[in-house]
Amino acid sequence: MYQKYYRQFLQAAQKAASPQCDLPVLHMACHSHHYWPDATLDAVKDYWQDAALMADTKWDKIFGEKIPTFQREIARVLNLPAPEQIALAPNTHELVYRLISSFDLSQPLRVLTTDGEFYSFARQLLRLEELPNVEVVRVPTQPFATLPQRFEQELVNGNYQLAYASLVFFDSGIVFPQLLKIAARKPDATQMVIDGYHGFFARPIDLSAIADKVFFTAGSYKYLGAGEGMCFMSVPRGCTLRPLNTGWFAEMAQLENRSEGVGFGNDWLRFAGATMDYSPLYKALAVLALFENQGITVDRIHSYVLSNQQRFLAAMDTADHPLFNRGNLLYHDLENGHGHFFTFHCGSAEKAGQLQEELRLKHVLCDRRKHLLRLGFAIYHPAEETFERLFT
Ligand SMILES: Cc1ncc(COP(=O)(O)O)c(C=O)c1O
Repeated sequence: MYQKYYRQFLQAAQKAASPQCDLPVLHMACHSHHYWPDATLDAVKDYWQDAALMADTKWDKIFGEKIPTFQREIARVLNLPAPEQIALAPNTHELVYRLISSFDLSQPLRVLTTDGEFYSFARQLLRLEELPNVEVVRVPTQPFATLPQRFEQELVNGNYQLAYASLVFFDSGIVFPQLLKIAARKPDATQMVIDGYHGFFARPIDLSAIADKVFFTAGSYKYLGAGEGMCFMSVPRGCTLRPLNTGWFAEMAQLENRSEGVGFGNDWLRFAGATMDYSPLYKALAVLALFENQGITVDRIHSYVLSNQQRFLAAMDTADHPLFNRGNLLYHDLENGHGHFFTFHCGSAEKAGQLQEELRLKHVLCDRRKHLLRLGFAIYHPAEETFERLFT
């Protein structure tokens, strides 16, 4: 399934890397950009055919077949009871900001979050915080052992309108311990968002117990490997929020018979936006179908990655590397509570940059956020990969 284009990518990367090294390129930036299976190219062509040749009538196919299929697949993977509650948009920012726009910003708005959230939300929150009536409490993620107690205590006692936290933190790969259980006990008056991007299609996730309590966001760019442009947010059934930022798709069902005032659908369309390019949806559907046909489940993906991570750790533990060692690795519970990448604290951005360059010369591609170097694991890494070249 990665027969053609992934090889082309590796060959191009090989040329750009180091002529002195003859090792095959190892793409360990997959936690950021997961490589796409070949099927995605046919999917883009299929979209072109439908979009261009069906013209106006394409919308019946997209809204009548493609979106419901995607929703059913996402619901199946996350064990959500109501596929029609899964809202789609090109990125999570659009969905989260639409949700935030449901709050009356002339009234006090208290937001509980952590200091480990991805820029998409963190930046937006900083801007919101400039408003005099918006108050934000950021619970430090560290120490991770006490994060659940500290976060829940605030959540229960702090009178928050909105709570937002990542299931797997983007800067460390560490899973927020007990987050789903905490969400199940949250106060009714608090709307809660779980940013599931680094968990989705990496770790098995069961949202059945909190489906009608929380908003869960994720997308296809990372572990699904279907590229940018297809994100989703599950919406609790019975949600009556009325986003201020509302697109005309939100009234889809009522368009022919528009009534006075602003109506909202009672399903995902409540959080719908407006016209967009749906080729990312076709790509996502192609990958989902491919995985299903080949029996590639999230459980299997996770156990494959876990075994590669164990091999990586074993090789690291026997090496004596100044930066790649347990002391610099950010972790809490490597067996059960970690995502599909490792982050190493390199002391300074300069040292992290040097290490990244050394790895590039050994044909290992990875990424870095300031002093933090991140190495991701994917199903397209060979099962016989020893990872030893990283530490020598
Ligand atoms: C934790 C997390 N949430 C969300 C996103 C994406 O945000 P958006 O879809 O708004 O670009 C990312 C990374 O791209 C991420 O790491």
